[in-house]
Amino acid sequence: MKGNRAMKQNRRGFLKVAGTAAAVLALGGLPFAARAATEKLKIGVIGSGRIGGTLGGVWVKAGHEVMFSSRNLEHDKKLAASLGPNARAGTPREAAAFGDVLLIAVPYRALPDVGKDLGTLIKGKVVIDPNNPIPSRDGEIATWAREKGAGLASAELLPGARIVRAFNAIGYARMGAAHEQKGERMGMPIASDDAKAVEVASRLIREIGYEPVLIGGLAMGKYLMPGTPLAGERKPEEIRQIAATLK
Ligand SMILES: NC(=O)c1ccc[n+]([C@@H]2O[C@H](COP(=O)([O-])OP(=O)(O)OC[C@H]3O[C@@H](n4cnc5c(N)ncnc54)[C@H](OP(=O)(O)O)[C@@H]3O)[C@@H](O)[C@H]2O)c1
Repeated sequence: MKGNRAMKQNRRGFLKVAGTAAAVLALGGLPFAARAATEKLKIGVIGSGRIGGTLGGVWVKAGHEVMFSSRNLEHDKKLAASLGPNARAGTPREAAAFGDVLLIAVPYRALPDVGKDLGTLIKGKVVIDPNNPIPSRDGEIATWAREKGAGLASAELLPGARIVRAFNAIGYARMGAAHEQKGERMGMPIASDDAKAVEVASRLIREIGYEPVLIGGLAMGKYLMPGTPLAGERKPEEIRQIAATLK
């Protein structure tokens, strides 16, 4: 019964489940897939700016534990304090070690350093990648990433991470408000080569108000950027139709 109730809440917009999150901690004996649908997760946010701060904030409200990090620990401590006991602050390495799931949300030019700094801490972890290579902001690395395709480039810069490209071409303010939307949900196009990582990321995407739409493997990640046909908010069916025209 409890499981059914939680699943219904999931579909409606999971923020209401914050108060019941503690009740699902008793599911430790279930297989990972079953636990992943309900259990409170630990999320490490590397880059606590507009995207990291917004998504981390709505995941805290959804009942998860979130550690925020950047190169400015004081900023992260203030952010965490404003979000209550499920939020904390740490260094990027501490956040990477803390999270079952990581959101790395930094300017693309910072990804090589982030990959080197975090090293083995990200190996085998689900990493959500909203990062867009923008040549005017990020310089040569962005040109390289665009030629390679942003999904494959992120995978090279974050070796061993189980990357799900998501949240790439929607403004951060909408991401913080999508759970309030009434009626049919907007879709969130995602790309990944890792089915289990897709399952975990999809849950987190649903919980903040979007319906995830897998458009393909990381090679398709090149279409998840501003200026591509999939940019902007669209209904799931429209995303599927557009994705079917892309190669
Ligand atoms: N803004 C949007 O609406 C939007 C939408 C879709 C996708 N994106 C993409 O998402 C990514 C983040 O965008 P944003 O708008 O959130 O940027 P932002 O507001 O500038 O935040 C970037 C964060 O990364 C941190 N950071 C920078 N270098 C770092 C490093 N080496 N190690 C750890 N943390 C580092 C920054 O803090 P410190 O400098 O203090 O370390 C800051 O907390 C970008 O790649 C962007 O293209 C943005």
